[in-house]
Amino acid sequence: KTPIPRAKGIDNSLSLIKEGFHFLPNQRKEVESDIFKTRILGQKAICMCGEEAAEVFYDPDKFKRKGALPKPLKMSLFGDGSLHALDGEDHRNRKRMFLSMFTPERVEDLKKIALEHLAAKVDVWEKSDQVIFFGEMQEILTRAGCEWAGFPLEEEEVHQRTEEIVAMIDSFGGSLSRFRDGKKARDSHEEWLEGIIKAVRKGKMNPPAYTAAYIVAHHRENNGKRLDVRTAAIELSNAFRPLIATAYFLTFGAAAMHEHPETAHKLMENKDHYSHMFSQEVRRYYPFVPAMAAKVKEDFVWQDHKFKKNTLVILDIFGTNRHPDLWSDADSFIPERFRDWKGSPFSFIPQGGGDHHIGHRCAGEWLTVYVMRSFFQFLAQNITYDVPEQDLSYSLERMPTFPVSGLVITNVRKQADFN
Ligand code: HEM
Repeated sequence: KTPIPRAKGIDNSLSLIKEGFHFLPNQRKEVESDIFKTRILGQKAICMCGEEAAEVFYDPDKFKRKGALPKPLKMSLFGDGSLHALDGEDHRNRKRMFLSMFTPERVEDLKKIALEHLAAKVDVWEKSDQVIFFGEMQEILTRAGCEWAGFPLEEEEVHQRTEEIVAMIDSFGGSLSRFRDGKKARDSHEEWLEGIIKAVRKGKMNPPAYTAAYIVAHHRENNGKRLDVRTAAIELSNAFRPLIATAYFLTFGAAAMHEHPETAHKLMENKDHYSHMFSQEVRRYYPFVPAMAAKVKEDFVWQDHKFKKNTLVILDIFGTNRHPDLWSDADSFIPERFRDWKGSPFSFIPQGGGDHHIGHRCAGEWLTVYVMRSFFQFLAQNITYDVPEQDLSYSLERMPTFPVSGLVITNVRKQADFN
């Protein structure tokens, strides 16, 4: 068998934290291979990148999630016991629960609700000297997510609940202090959602049967039992919390509209579903998820390399989306590349690869794309604003990352045909 090249260094955990989104591409360049061995978090790991790598990584016969996710990630971002780490029938049952919430009608509902919250904010923005777009998107999406999921968010708790979700998302790939903030936020967030699950179960709160709150509260596992209250709270969080992550893509996209003004014109006209191409390119080009982890289920050989049972394998998500063999001019922002894109579940994987129903691919991918398309169109068609001089650069060493200024906009005005 062909040995897998080994990256320099005894344990690369520190390099990963220091180099962030650069870490995997740097190592690949150094060993001149899309696959290499290293040690991360005290474990031997195989890192790989590209369409074929994604295809094998998302084969449920070859990989499992049990024991693969780093504990800190479970404690702050995903929640302990969530579907991200489940395998086989247990995963399928839980995934069915999620997909039953994201029907086309419900995706449409969310888009409508989110646009209503965005439009309401414009009234406030018109009276403000300046608006920090990133923060506003986080709040709008928290409001919209709770309403869509079927439970109330009192006006006086909007700030706290938004900040908690933001702290949880901001906690991955970072310093100890960001992890601690994320963990503390998660404890309070889960307690809040436990209260909602209990109220729904007791009939004190009566959300419609198609909402996430109802579906999670009454869901039954393969053993016929309801989820324990804590796990139900964690999954209710997974049904709307990731929506707030879309604020990163929205801010990057709005910054791209400013930096490439022709894209704003094209969004205004929206010929050939330009807003779709634009949203896809934002998800491909801008960094958000760096990588995903899984473990080898049983020994197998792939491309003449041996994969031994229980080895940790890391798939380079950002690197695959920017891989020069898969994308021409991969490091340039070109929405039109998606006009004739043939589609592949493994080369464009900002929200995971493979099949949404069978594997771990993001259950909220359609939701994300719908919200992005409609928000970018709204920005181009329904309002005008100025973007003053500011620092819109973003660090590839920080995970997650966003434009330094958060995108400040001023002089917001409704367009004549605002509705
Ligand atoms: C899973 C990314 C938005 C719900 C995932 C995964 C990624 C991801 C990388 C893991 C794939 C894997 O395990 O291999 C994103 C990004 C988003 C986003 C970048 C937007 C910025 C959403 C939204 C929702 C959502 C809006 C729902 C409201 C989920 C769920 C899973 C998941 C439930 C677990 C799927 C499973 O393990 O089977 N997402 N996501 N995500 N996402 Fe998202």
